[in-house]
Amino acid sequence: MVVATVRVAPASAFCGAITIPPDKSITHRAILFGAISDRTVVIERPLDSEDTGATLSAMEACRVTARGHLGDRIELDGVGLRGLRPPATIDCMNAGTLARLLTGIMVGQSCDQTVIDGDASLRGRPMNRIARPLAAMGAEIHTMPGGTPPMVVSGPRDLRGMVHRLPVASAQVKSCLLLAGLFAEGETWVHEPERSRDHTERMLEAAGVTILRDGLAVGVRGPVDGIALPDLAVPGDFSSAAFHAVAGVLCANPQVRLNGVNLNPTRTGLLAVMERMGAGVQILDRAQMAGEPTGDLIVTRADALRATEVAPHEVPALIDELPLVGLLGAFADGVTVVRGAHELRHKESDRIASVCQALRALGVRADEHEDGFSVHGAGGIAGGEIDSHGDHRLAMLGAIAGLVSSDGVSIRGFEAAAVSYPGFGRDLAALGAVA
Ligand code: S3P
Repeated sequence: MVVATVRVAPASAFCGAITIPPDKSITHRAILFGAISDRTVVIERPLDSEDTGATLSAMEACRVTARGHLGDRIELDGVGLRGLRPPATIDCMNAGTLARLLTGIMVGQSCDQTVIDGDASLRGRPMNRIARPLAAMGAEIHTMPGGTPPMVVSGPRDLRGMVHRLPVASAQVKSCLLLAGLFAEGETWVHEPERSRDHTERMLEAAGVTILRDGLAVGVRGPVDGIALPDLAVPGDFSSAAFHAVAGVLCANPQVRLNGVNLNPTRTGLLAVMERMGAGVQILDRAQMAGEPTGDLIVTRADALRATEVAPHEVPALIDELPLVGLLGAFADGVTVVRGAHELRHKESDRIASVCQALRALGVRADEHEDGFSVHGAGGIAGGEIDSHGDHRLAMLGAIAGLVSSDGVSIRGFEAAAVSYPGFGRDLAALGAVA
């Protein structure tokens, strides 16, 4: 892939209305759960991105027939809960969500040493967190010696339901284990220290699975004969809207309406943090889509932003938005601190290191901690050049930084944005008038 350097100039205004692209987490799940349904499932507005393209290709490689196009509408002929016919190797590319959820499904399929692999970034991501509990349930699964992909799965084996206690909240791990629980004898429970995003529970419930709940713990009772995902339309991705929302708070004359955003409370922790810092947040036209709450988001600029501390218990609800908290911190009065976010070290890049490096390259003092960072607010940023490290959220962070900087920002590796938001540059140009 060609590494593209893009320069984003400061904007004199940031105004207009855009429809936020469909949710990545929900699209992954809709494709996977549709593929193992007992019916033909229509998905309206599935996200067209590199990550979700990998999920569709993975299901097609497992002999699931799909008609239509991502970004518009796809129709999947579900093959049933145990009906995937995997090839020798499945390429998950950059998508951690795909690798982890697919593995939970694969342990229930007829497969003989199926290899689950991905790109260089995915090959560095921890899979022991799923491989060990799956093996404890009776699955035959192997990782590389460091607990990373490629993984090799053979199945189906006799799986036993059991209680899993996750040391760190993770929707990907929780989803993987609940999916494996569909094939297991008895109850499979997942206890998390905090609630992570619950799209899997909502979607499995809509597909006819009984979800057991006890405080922060969720479970399923297996074995389940089949699931039947109803047709659905994918709401807008809060994590994509978040970039424009933060630009709206930091620009001089914001008047932005972000339409059709998923407002699932397990995802929207950034809004509370922004309000604490002094931003105004308004939600209009609340509705429901695919069993998820949605609405249009309007943010307003505060006269002065106050620094804040993001506490460990808040982290799961804004795990993907923490880089943006760093950028907000650069504009705030005081030191903005994020703690309890060690998980950021295991994302598409080590996001504690890469965010601090990016902010420093823009002239901001950012201190790295083992489990987070501290950003010393200086009333704004000058500009400079940053590297995305192949991480889509870093590439988009750099572009927003350029928009609200005084001198502009060059982003090396901007093409990574296509992993979750291929139209990001176009939407940004539509909203931001370049000075
Ligand atoms: C995701 C869960 C989160 C998030 C990722 C998508 C999902 O990861 O960071 O971008 O779709 O379940 P973890 O739950 O592993 O932290």
